[in-house]
Amino acid sequence: MWGNGSSPKARVLAALKRLGIRDLKTLNDFSDHRELLEPSATHPHGVPFVLRSPINGETLCEVKTASTIGLHEIRWRSEAAFTTWRMTPAPVRGEFVRRLGLKLREFKNELAELIVWEVGKIPQEALGEVQEMIDICDFAVGLSRQLHGLTIASERPRHRLMEQWLPLGPVMVISAFNFPMAVWAWNAALAWVCGNPVVWKPSEKTSLCAIGVHAIVKELLTEMPEVPEGIASLVLCDREVAKPDNWLWIKLISATGSTRMGYEVAKAARLTRTLLELGGNNGMIVCPTADIELAVRAIVFGAVGTCGQRCTTLRRLFVHRSRYQEVRHRLLNAYRTLPIGDPATPGVLVGPLIDEAAFQSMQEALEAARSEGGTVHFGERITNGVPAGGYYVRPALVEMPVRVTKAEHVASQHAAPTSEDLIGADVMSDPGLSIMDHETFAPILYMMPYTDLDQAIALHNDVSQGLSSAILTNDLREAELFCSAAGSDCGLVNVNCGTSGAEIGGAFGGDKDTGGGRESGSDAWKNYMRRVTSTINWSGELPLAQGIQFDL
Ligand code: UN1
Repeated sequence: MWGNGSSPKARVLAALKRLGIRDLKTLNDFSDHRELLEPSATHPHGVPFVLRSPINGETLCEVKTASTIGLHEIRWRSEAAFTTWRMTPAPVRGEFVRRLGLKLREFKNELAELIVWEVGKIPQEALGEVQEMIDICDFAVGLSRQLHGLTIASERPRHRLMEQWLPLGPVMVISAFNFPMAVWAWNAALAWVCGNPVVWKPSEKTSLCAIGVHAIVKELLTEMPEVPEGIASLVLCDREVAKPDNWLWIKLISATGSTRMGYEVAKAARLTRTLLELGGNNGMIVCPTADIELAVRAIVFGAVGTCGQRCTTLRRLFVHRSRYQEVRHRLLNAYRTLPIGDPATPGVLVGPLIDEAAFQSMQEALEAARSEGGTVHFGERITNGVPAGGYYVRPALVEMPVRVTKAEHVASQHAAPTSEDLIGADVMSDPGLSIMDHETFAPILYMMPYTDLDQAIALHNDVSQGLSSAILTNDLREAELFCSAAGSDCGLVNVNCGTSGAEIGGAFGGDKDTGGGRESGSDAWKNYMRRVTSTINWSGELPLAQGIQFDL
């Protein structure tokens, strides 16, 4: 189903047709295909953009976008839907999500195909992404019967404190190109069982993935007329229209993307609640007792999977000196023979970068690493044996000189770093001294030896981001140290597995410049609800708290 020699455009068209978008004559008709652009289609459009497949650069279609005028209609239908949806019993809301999960199973291949053609993921990873959607639906269905609050002992006689979690209101989901469906699903499935309408603003680079998923949701809405159709809106728009200033009626903005984007959203959102899942700069420490077979697989999947374009991608590797040469040798061999190319070709593990800009920033980062004394292995563009027009690279392994933490640097200079030392100071809370301190969304793995675990942990934490981390060790004390308060400062802290590929059951997200948000499992649902504390007095008297006497 993945190859067949046809072009990405033909395959996308076929997948969309199977998803019920049948009346397209050609892909170019998207621009006039009103249902795809609802509800703004009746209003003047914004600036159109051209979609290209990263596989061969082929133009897939031109998508017209919403203008700010169209947003009023989205507001109206979302708020109208909220009045009904918030009073629909949560388990009934869960039934909608349960049936969505069934539909996602039914169309798993079609959705995965859209991801392959529009993002360039290999089929296994694309199917994995759809599986994440299915899993979060199952999770949310169970959750729909567990939206519980506490009952708290009151200090007053015959009083009770009762906590309730109530629906919040319309939720906006801003998703990134690299997980064009799953991250929306983490948010939407929870938001829906929690009683909120969802407005989805996908990355413009992956509009067709969003259109495909939205087609499924719309079909389900027609099968369940009791569900208000305004609980799901898709808005394709540019950054200007997506600005929080246009969305201040939204009750929660959940945004996934770069730290720079999150910073702008947080600033402009004012007091609107935000849930931010931003840049990662994920590290791993390989200890003397690590299982090297396991380590090599964990490192390579983490660093080159999805062509280094996951927020959880492994970007920094600290290897104990006693194992450094061995790990280096194994990695160089693995990198040299990586199957890179058209993701639809069986056996390929690394597909293309999303676009030329990603390629350029990768090359700039490698240049910066060289100028810092790093030894760059690979990282070059591949043009042989891959579709022309795509940006295919051999993932880079960069051996970096041993460094000190920023605090040690300052101490040794007897002065704060100069502005020339600071890279990216306009956005990051803790600007870096090295290119290693920055997230380049491409497959670059920086590697360096360490001697002392405490120093390795200090270096590991010495970046502004705090998403995912891992330690590979069979020493219980090292593992426990890394998971402790003196260990990794990330939101995801793994032992003997890689930094990427988290399960939906845990809370997903990170601290520091990663934004502090937690999505998906555990109690992340609380982000999508408002907490109400009620004091119930059944005494017939009016005793005041804190023993206050106030007799009239
Ligand atoms: C992302 O890259 O934004 O843990 C999400 C992982 C995936 C999700 C990544 N489950 O790698």
